[in-house]
Amino acid sequence: MKIAVIPGDGIGPEIMAEAIKVLDAIAIKFGHNFEYHHALIGGAAYDKFQNHFPDETKQIAENCDAILFGSVGGPVDQMHEPKWKDCERNSILAIRKHFDFNANLRPVKVYPQLAFRCVLRPDIVEQGIDIMTVRELSSGIYFGEHRTEGNKAWDIMEYDVPTIEAIAHAAFKTAQARRKKVTSVDKANVLDCSRLWRKTVDEVAKQYPDIELEHILVDNCAMQIVQRPSSFDVMLMPNMFGDILSDLTSVLSGSIGMLPSASLNKQGFGMYEPSGGSAPDIAGKGIANPIAQILSAALMLKISFGLNDEHDAIKNAIQKTLDQNILTGDLTQTNPVGTQQMGDAIINNL
Ligand code: IPM
Ligand code: MG
Repeated sequence: MKIAVIPGDGIGPEIMAEAIKVLDAIAIKFGHNFEYHHALIGGAAYDKFQNHFPDETKQIAENCDAILFGSVGGPVDQMHEPKWKDCERNSILAIRKHFDFNANLRPVKVYPQLAFRCVLRPDIVEQGIDIMTVRELSSGIYFGEHRTEGNKAWDIMEYDVPTIEAIAHAAFKTAQARRKKVTSVDKANVLDCSRLWRKTVDEVAKQYPDIELEHILVDNCAMQIVQRPSSFDVMLMPNMFGDILSDLTSVLSGSIGMLPSASLNKQGFGMYEPSGGSAPDIAGKGIANPIAQILSAALMLKISFGLNDEHDAIKNAIQKTLDQNILTGDLTQTNPVGTQQMGDAIINNL
């Protein structure tokens, strides 16, 4: 199993090191051979190649069976510097486009041990929160024309029927393996793209009579996620709404540092990365929570390699570690552990 390891910037390399440690432990425990092929992206690639997504990285990724990705981007106050200018567009968006990763899955669950960290009232949390965001990742306003002329700027949002159909199928299929409900998010009261989205999702829904479908306007959705999170199962969203609302759902779990994600193309090739960003403010301090990266590796084992027991073993080891009250600084103020200690504790529990 060949894995492209692309840690990127900020906390990426630190948390990636822990994910690799866990994969090594899994390889020994279950008798696998994971081949790691390391590559640079983002600011880290710019330093060496003056390019945020160099050909070398492209080739390494193309020759692997899956990509384990960290995060990219620099401090906001340095955005104008060549190293960071357009870094996200040229790296993470470019790699998504290159492999045509159209579906982005972002699971959010409240771990019982971390329920106290949830910002919502206990009676809301007790009803259970288990949401899977299925975000369209290869189209929409992210990939339409971006243009600035003098004191005016444009970002064009585009959607076509095949793109919407593909992501709708992904959402309905995901729901079939879960609680059989899809909530489709749009802004159909204003946007043409959203009207096409809603109509197309309704068409696709006819092929999934076992799935309950609800449509919801994005502004109302933000409110409902906070008020009735337990009523959501699969949430189907266009690219930008998915970006925004998946950060909102992430805090329900206690910390965005807990959340993995999977980006898949139609051939089933996958890239796995934390839902959070490069967190330059805490980079290099050894305090970042590596769980999102470790869970991303676990998702890779399950989705790309069909290694369900190995995935479950990692999840259980994380549960056990949380049970032991071993928590990083994003989860506790009393005696937090560092990035490496968290990785070590998870491996001990494996
Ligand atoms: C995400 C990130 C990216 C996005 C950024 C880094 C471009 O926020 O994966 O959610 O907006 O898609
Ligand atoms: Mg985001």
